[in-house]
Amino acid sequence: MRRTEHWFEPARFGLFVHWGPWARAGWEASWPLVGGVVTLPLGQDIPADVYHANADGWQPDPAAPEAWIAAAAAAGMRYAVLTTRHHDGYAMWPSRHGDHGVARTAPGVDIVGAFVAACRRHGLKVGLYYSLPDWHHPAYPAFTDAMRPYVFGGYPAPSADGWAAYQAYLRGQITELLTGYGPIDMIWFDGAWERSPEMWDVDGLERLIRQLQPDILINDRLPGHGDFATPEQFVPPEPPAEPWETCLTMNMSWGFNAGDDRYKSPAALVHTLCEVAGRGGNLLLNIGPDGDGRIPPPQAQRMAELGRWMGRHADAIVCTHAGLKPWQFPGPTTLKGQTLYCHLLMQPVAPVSVRGVPVRHLRRVSVLGHADTLPFETRIPVLDELMHVDGPGEVLIDVPDALRDPVATVLVLEFDCDPARSGPAAPHLENPA
Ligand code: GLC
Repeated sequence: MRRTEHWFEPARFGLFVHWGPWARAGWEASWPLVGGVVTLPLGQDIPADVYHANADGWQPDPAAPEAWIAAAAAAGMRYAVLTTRHHDGYAMWPSRHGDHGVARTAPGVDIVGAFVAACRRHGLKVGLYYSLPDWHHPAYPAFTDAMRPYVFGGYPAPSADGWAAYQAYLRGQITELLTGYGPIDMIWFDGAWERSPEMWDVDGLERLIRQLQPDILINDRLPGHGDFATPEQFVPPEPPAEPWETCLTMNMSWGFNAGDDRYKSPAALVHTLCEVAGRGGNLLLNIGPDGDGRIPPPQAQRMAELGRWMGRHADAIVCTHAGLKPWQFPGPTTLKGQTLYCHLLMQPVAPVSVRGVPVRHLRRVSVLGHADTLPFETRIPVLDELMHVDGPGEVLIDVPDALRDPVATVLVLEFDCDPARSGPAAPHLENPA
């Protein structure tokens, strides 16, 4: 059994939370301090010292995670991932390593502890995001304005002593995160591009992590050791062979940015969830709470709309597998045992058809969330009909207006065999009459 089969693949839907002192100013997470990055077009450009000084006196509210995780549970999410330390180096827990974090600006506050406790209360699996680079740590070395522009692959090298000190700091922080909060289900690394896998000592890091948390999942941003792939802001057109998770922002920013109103619609987010599940992946959807920890209203509204849709349709997402091939239905499909879920992301103008399925084994058709059984017609090649071949055919279903969901309607096709079975099981099942 793959490590990810236990809870990660069945979960399908999780919450990403980008929160740090930058939220207070409405600045994007970390990137403004190096002058911005093209992939975050609404991020700012702030001198490094000014950016770091913004953390002084920040008092993150330890009550904030409860509201995020309650919203996540209500939206049908099964796990959550928090930025415990982003590239800017600010630690959201009282770390004994380094001097940039809640230990200095907000003594007595532990946001990681509050987050883990909230996840446990709501039954969500716990994921901790941790940036391998630290643009504030002197030994990394810290990023200064003189190092601008930021060059991918061209980050200045540390001294040998500096790197040894940084390695000790990194391991110290990771050890705190993985020993201070009980079982942690996932560690979500980022930023490995700045150093070689050898410099990070990825093998040693993996050994340390698995020794501290034997059941943990590690994302693929610890090069060579990923349990799952992490396409960012992108849904792979073909299902990758390995387990995967798309991480996605609701607008154009990871962190809180009041000026960013370039939001994906609630319907587009539901559709992305269906597309991802239909290809056998997970969706890690991001929120960027403001400095007080509140979910911005447009994001709360989208969480609520996802919750409304999942309230009726979770069966078509959670614990499913990738469905049929794209030519078989004009939309994503998911599978659970002998049940096929067909996600209609457009309003049909004619009966919808499901192609290449074992039609002689179709027992019932319905719309998810409604009790009614729907009539259906089937078509198979004439000779197969005459010869009683148990082969694939086409199902035609008229979806009544009254049963259509305004965002995405899910048809449920219950078979008494594997719906994805290809080709005739056995020709001439019975003698022609
Ligand atoms: C990127 C960015 C970072 C963000 C992350 C989320 O690698 O550096 O800002 O946290 O993606 O996937």
